Amino acid sequence: MSGQSSRRTVLKGAALAGAAGLGVAACSTESNLGHAQVPTPTAPVTLGAPDEIPVGGAKLYREQRVLVSCPAKGQYKAFSAQCTHAGCVLDKIENNEGNCPCHGSRFDVTTGKALKGPATVPLPEVAVRVENGKLVAGPEATTPKA
Ligand code: FES
Repeated sequence: MSGQSSRRTVLKGAALAGAAGLGVAACSTESNLGHAQVPTPTAPVTLGAPDEIPVGGAKLYREQRVLVSCPAKGQYKAFSAQCTHAGCVLDKIENNEGNCPCHGSRFDVTTGKALKGPATVPLPEVAVRVENGKLVAGPEATTPKA
């Protein structure tokens, strides 16, 4: 008899722990300090025309969480635009520095390096290429080549 009731208690406890675990997981995507959860696109994303990016400058694609710099004509470098401090998306680029609106970190848009804290980890580089006249960031599509 007592065995049955303690088993029930355990089950109830497990259900509660499960619910609590879910809450923590959902929260950590917003506020997990130190590591962005999904810092780079996991599938190719089309950004726009390459000439939107000034030569020697950079452009922020907030929606896609990517920034692209153009060190020289026809050359592009892309980085995650998600702050490596707590995962906010950068809000603007000033003087070739990406600005994080949450706690003021700054990143070099040509290297991804953290120039000003609290972030210390550089923005991860993202593959970028021009396809059909559009910049495409993220991993190559895995369609077999004909
Ligand atoms: S999230 Fe804290 S500085 Fe960017």
